[in-house]
Amino acid sequence: MLELFPKSARVEAGELTIGGVPVSRLADEFGTPLVVYDEASVRAQARAYREAAPDALVVYGTKAFANVAILRLLAEEGVGADVSTLGELAFARAAGIAGDAIVFHGNNKSVEELRAAAEAGALVVLDAPSEVDAAAEAGVRRVLVRLTPGVEAVTHAAIRTAHEGTKFGLSPEAARAVVERARERGLDVEGVHMHVGSQLTRIEESVLAVERLRHFLEELDWTPQTIDLGGGLGIRYTREDEVPSVADWVGALLRELPAGVRPILEPGRSLVGRAGVTLYRVGVVKESGGVTYAAIDGGMSDNPRPQLYGARYEALLATRAEELPTGVYRIAGKHCETGDVLIDAAELPEPRPGDLLAVPATGAYTLALGSTYNGVPRPAAVLVADGEARLIRRRESVDELLRFET
Ligand code: LLP
Repeated sequence: MLELFPKSARVEAGELTIGGVPVSRLADEFGTPLVVYDEASVRAQARAYREAAPDALVVYGTKAFANVAILRLLAEEGVGADVSTLGELAFARAAGIAGDAIVFHGNNKSVEELRAAAEAGALVVLDAPSEVDAAAEAGVRRVLVRLTPGVEAVTHAAIRTAHEGTKFGLSPEAARAVVERARERGLDVEGVHMHVGSQLTRIEESVLAVERLRHFLEELDWTPQTIDLGGGLGIRYTREDEVPSVADWVGALLRELPAGVRPILEPGRSLVGRAGVTLYRVGVVKESGGVTYAAIDGGMSDNPRPQLYGARYEALLATRAEELPTGVYRIAGKHCETGDVLIDAAELPEPRPGDLLAVPATGAYTLALGSTYNGVPRPAAVLVADGEARLIRRRESVDELLRFET
């Protein structure tokens, strides 16, 4: 089970520790639910990407968890930011990330967003025929053109992005016209972009996509300066999951690129997913129709991935981590919906009110997708390293929620 947790996770005297900090100390000091990020894991993943692709620009898919401290930490490792809204751009700028390390995406960028991207000096990924003029008028200089390679990623349908019929990118014919028009408008077309999908566990579709991208370039007789290969490498959520290593994944893609082209990589989940663990406090434990429920003090407001993608998680009873499982428990959230179930069947020692439950692989697209459903304020996040914990996102309060009311 510890293999799903961050690299620094240990069990000491029956209790889970992350970055050398016992989870009970974290829960007492910062409250629960709490998302705990392991600094060493984030740095190690960033280094794995930089080592696998020394000549590439690696940009963090900020959408996985927009957080200034994490962006700064990644910047220290030479990683920039992939942003897709004004808000994400603001996070990247607040972290001090320079414009030439920012890639700006989006299938429907506003004039304001294009202007902000231009002002920051970011590389803008054109996603629609109408965007050429809009970008030129907003003062954008450097662009990529997003190609839809027409491949079906093997992942949840909601996070496939390269198939025919997707809202993202341009068909080869449309992309060709956009390249020509962008050049006419005096934009510096640095290259092409593709992104096959997210939580990918096989490389085949991505390799096929790069082959199609190469074919597109050959037809145009064009060797661009840059090819952006997007993100997408998956992580393990359960012990059954298998994923390629960063080195194998990146190596297989880079092999397909024409010589002399600078790659861009946009990993999100694989940089921060395993680094994050969510701590919950167990409350009510009860039986209903043959199922034993253990309810936690969070749920679909801090992690809606089970509801959105049928995502599966595992859990560890973190304060009694050495006890053997005695039963199967359904981990339910505190929200007013039957579907607010985080884990359908977790094998655990009998949970008791007050126990801490740790859910690994929750560093990406959890808090980022969070809501304040049922008037539940969003949790805090901390970064742990060398026995110390630092608050990197404050817990929201009910008073703050009320401030939006008129
Ligand atoms: N680049 C582009 C253009 C993207 O659209 C994405 C993710 C990434 C990079 C980063 O992909 P990653 O390496 O994280 O797979 N909320 C969903 C995932 C949505 C992904 C959106 N785009 C989930 O929880 O599974």
